[in-house]
Amino acid sequence: MSAAFPARRMRRLRRSDALRRLVAETTLSVDDLVAPLFVREAIDSPVAVPSLPGHVQHTVASLVVEAKRLASLGVPAVVLFGLPARKDATGSGASDPSGIVQVALSELRGHLGEEIVLISDLCLDEYTDHGHCGLIAADGTVDNDATLGRYKEVAVAQAVAGADIVAPSGMMDGQVGAIRSALDASGHTEVAILAYAAKYASALYGPFRDAAGVAIADGGNRRAYQQDPRNVAEALAEVALDVAEGADIVMVKPALAYLDVLARVASSVDVPVAAYHVSGEYAMLKAAAERGWIDGEAVAIEHLVAMKRAGARAILTYLAGEVAEAMNG
Ligand code: PBG
Repeated sequence: MSAAFPARRMRRLRRSDALRRLVAETTLSVDDLVAPLFVREAIDSPVAVPSLPGHVQHTVASLVVEAKRLASLGVPAVVLFGLPARKDATGSGASDPSGIVQVALSELRGHLGEEIVLISDLCLDEYTDHGHCGLIAADGTVDNDATLGRYKEVAVAQAVAGADIVAPSGMMDGQVGAIRSALDASGHTEVAILAYAAKYASALYGPFRDAAGVAIADGGNRRAYQQDPRNVAEALAEVALDVAEGADIVMVKPALAYLDVLARVASSVDVPVAAYHVSGEYAMLKAAAERGWIDGEAVAIEHLVAMKRAGARAILTYLAGEVAEAMNG
């Protein structure tokens, strides 16, 4: 070997697209995508969400049409968020058998059968008048254990309505164990739990709160129950607890700014790991693309591939529909 040449020529395997495909370590497929969808009670036609371009608050009818479209594109799952017509202190709409998500689940099940996996977000914030993810105690804090009682009721209502998977997102301690026991006790042993296990108190949820109609009372925040962005060991502890309590899938949220967390979680558990590419991440991408500052489609794929590379088995993303379309096209 001559000293004038490098020992190993790394560029040999980068010469053509076919060579690059042959040696690619990561693949992104439509099977990886989960589409978040919003369904709103008491509206006659879909309502656009300006901060989440391309997305709407659906009527039950338009939701069914969109889920059919996603299923025909090969998207394996949707995750549902409900907007009730009325909110109250306990978020009663979340567990009401005729509440918006329960109605939506049974309609989707009726129209789509098992063509697409039905995941329901399990939380109270869309249903409470104060906008917190749990019940408020007399001292004004979010009451962990009282909230678990409500989550059990919501889980059973969603299971009865047809959810394949419930996805607790409130970050209460013990929520996965409480929900698992409520599901099992009511005969829903086959309903799985996708745990928002490492969910950070992020500023990237803004457009979601527009879409879901959530405002936290008195300019409040969720830092007393969601995780501190400065911590990663804590995320591993959260994940270990959720797996021990019976989580079937664990999730890291948000995604891009937390790829280190995702990678560490993926190497620490043997259950599938999901990443939530959240509303603010999507909105930033769309805003820059709209200005012509980045190539939106290329950056979208690069970001999703990065999540796969870091260890995500599934990705919840507002890009699901458009990326599935591109992959089918
Ligand atoms: C809570 C919930 C939130 C999101 C998903 N589930 C909002 C929050 O924690 O405040 C955010 C998702 C996103 O930003 O895309 N029900």
